[in-house]
Amino acid sequence: MDDDVEVPGDVAAARERHDELVPVLRDARYRYYVLSDPAMADAEFDVRWRELLALEEAHPSLATATSPTAEVGAPVDSAFPPHRHLEPMLSLDNVFSREDLQAWQERAASGLATGREGDDLAPTWVCELKIDGVAISLTYVDGVLATAATRGDGTTGETVTQQVLTMDDVPYRLDAGSDGGDPPALVEVRGEIYYPVEAFEAMNAARVGAGEQVFANPRNAASGALRQKDPSVTATRPLSLWIHGIGALQLAGDAPDVDDPDAVVDTPDPTEEAVGTTDFATHSAFLDWCGRVGLPVAGETLVTDDTDEVWDFVDHWTSHRHDPTYEIDGVVVKVDDLAQRQVLGTTSRAPRWAIAYKMPPIEATTLLRDIEINTGRTGRVTPFAVVEPVTVSGVTITYATLHNEIQVHAKDVRIGDTVSVRRAGDVIPEVVGPVLSERPDGAETWHMPADCPSCGTPLVRPEGEGHHFCENVDCPNRILESLSHFGGRKALDIEGLGYKTAKLLLDEGLVADLADVFALDARRDDLVALEGWKEKSVDNLLAGIEAAKAQPLDRLLVGLNIRHLGPTVAKLLAGAFGDMAALATADAEAMSAIDGIGPVIGEAVAAFFAVDRNRALVDKMRDLGVDMAADEPAATADVLVDMSIVVTGTLEGFSRTEAKEAIESRGGKATSSVSGRTTAVVVGDSPGSKADKARDLDVPILDEAAFTHLLDTGELP
Ligand code: IVH
Repeated sequence: MDDDVEVPGDVAAARERHDELVPVLRDARYRYYVLSDPAMADAEFDVRWRELLALEEAHPSLATATSPTAEVGAPVDSAFPPHRHLEPMLSLDNVFSREDLQAWQERAASGLATGREGDDLAPTWVCELKIDGVAISLTYVDGVLATAATRGDGTTGETVTQQVLTMDDVPYRLDAGSDGGDPPALVEVRGEIYYPVEAFEAMNAARVGAGEQVFANPRNAASGALRQKDPSVTATRPLSLWIHGIGALQLAGDAPDVDDPDAVVDTPDPTEEAVGTTDFATHSAFLDWCGRVGLPVAGETLVTDDTDEVWDFVDHWTSHRHDPTYEIDGVVVKVDDLAQRQVLGTTSRAPRWAIAYKMPPIEATTLLRDIEINTGRTGRVTPFAVVEPVTVSGVTITYATLHNEIQVHAKDVRIGDTVSVRRAGDVIPEVVGPVLSERPDGAETWHMPADCPSCGTPLVRPEGEGHHFCENVDCPNRILESLSHFGGRKALDIEGLGYKTAKLLLDEGLVADLADVFALDARRDDLVALEGWKEKSVDNLLAGIEAAKAQPLDRLLVGLNIRHLGPTVAKLLAGAFGDMAALATADAEAMSAIDGIGPVIGEAVAAFFAVDRNRALVDKMRDLGVDMAADEPAATADVLVDMSIVVTGTLEGFSRTEAKEAIESRGGKATSSVSGRTTAVVVGDSPGSKADKARDLDVPILDEAAFTHLLDTGELP
């Protein structure tokens, strides 16, 4: 099955390797499924798992009933009451290449071929994103949620009904919807509970700030939130759900007792006519039904007969894997027709009618060579890992953040460890944790150095803070980081003033503080004389600086490197105070009275302006011609008030987050489900069932051009 796995031909040697792998994989699965605290990166698990499969394929005597390959998930050993699934919750087999995916599709198609002329059994495929969450089974009896259970070992899971009922996405009662018909007597719907990426990042950032241990990834955060004994704790977490499958189904009659392990379900024959309007003959019809009865279904789904389109879907989402609001790790391709699924059947572990294409991992393991620290623009000191370079989804990682000393200790990473590093989207790669089984003897716990490596000032860790700080405002590294941030995209956006130029300007003594940047036009000759600089690049830089003088106040504020002050807060402050002078003389209470600004931010900003040299710095900028006023609110500011807009599929000019921001900054609501109250649905590439729902409900459908027009004018076409 795998060309890159080496399998010994000798059965004794194979058994020896098998014996080595089994406990490691068992432990990894226990930690992953039961403790929500994985011991190794998913990709590393996959490599070892594939090796185990290859060993068993070459030497079938190793594939005993007690091998982990015969199990699904992990055995249940839990504080939650057991729940026996009426239909087993299977796992999926994986493929990692186009060839293997197509080989699977061919196998499935030939499994359906009857050889009889005229039979057209070529399958229709449903392609879905593979959500990296926690599998859940919801059993509805007569349309009311009876139990929610995790997968467990595939046969028996853990009952988490009360926890799941705290989730907004989970209907307690199915909506008869536009069907108007009765719900099935019993249905097990299967899906994935996930922690939305944005909320996950915000939560981890808050945990770092509070000196608490961070979650390794959104999946673990979801699993941790779901497995809270006290459901009111789960209720505080923004868990979401996508439904992607069906288990047991009984359309009518008396539902069996869901708590009876021997319950018999009167399963309908998928080849027979549908009962009423509830059509479960195909998976896509099932997904539509979910949408109608209020069960959430991910929009990013494609139904097609065309093998090339299946690959295009995989390819598209592999390069847009960070666009969805939830984390994905692959694409699941399924046979649509349920009768065809019955023909193909399942193995003990996984169905033959579905396959998971796994995307290249965003985590990898590598050697932790050293831990160094960097003093940032606000004086905050961040430890970072220097690792043996490793490629993760096309980018070479050499450095990865470790946040602060508490995190280094909480994760127990030590120099010399093999560590797993993770790169999600554009965020800085981070160290997830060590592979403990590979720790070298004598590896020691790391401690924060006593002094700033840049200026030698003793580092301090304020009471109640997770971070250490260098409090020297003249710390050379602090100034360098401040200056490169000053010219950065979120601040004054000065083309040509990046880290390298900032360093050069400081090293050459052409600037000593941020305000000096605005006096550089008087140093044109010195700039041109710098090694490697041409007149044109100098003039471009000076033109960029000149333009930056007119940037709105919020950008200037972001550029000042005040703790806790990011673009959103800066906009609020600039909008409320109107100009720099009013803000500089305001007290912390006046700032935190503004909606969206808390006392911590208010105090940080007031503390900044209480320092004489900071006020002098701002005055110097003003004297050098920097505009200190907030922008007039744009005419488009509130064109979308009272509008509720859904975006589905991929847009060319906007990521999901950008589209959401564009809607919200104009006073509109960006929502994820389509209802009769939706103002419009914006449809991009590979849209999902939301577009169909919009059509059903007569909600206006906009393409990207119409969306841009709407953003500019507030008008629907
Ligand atoms: S279908 C018979 N569809 O991935 C199993 N599973 O690694 C049918 N998953 O057990 C599963 N997204 O928990 C399916 N769109 C999707 C999925 C999905 C995530 C999970 C599911 C499954 C696991 C296998």
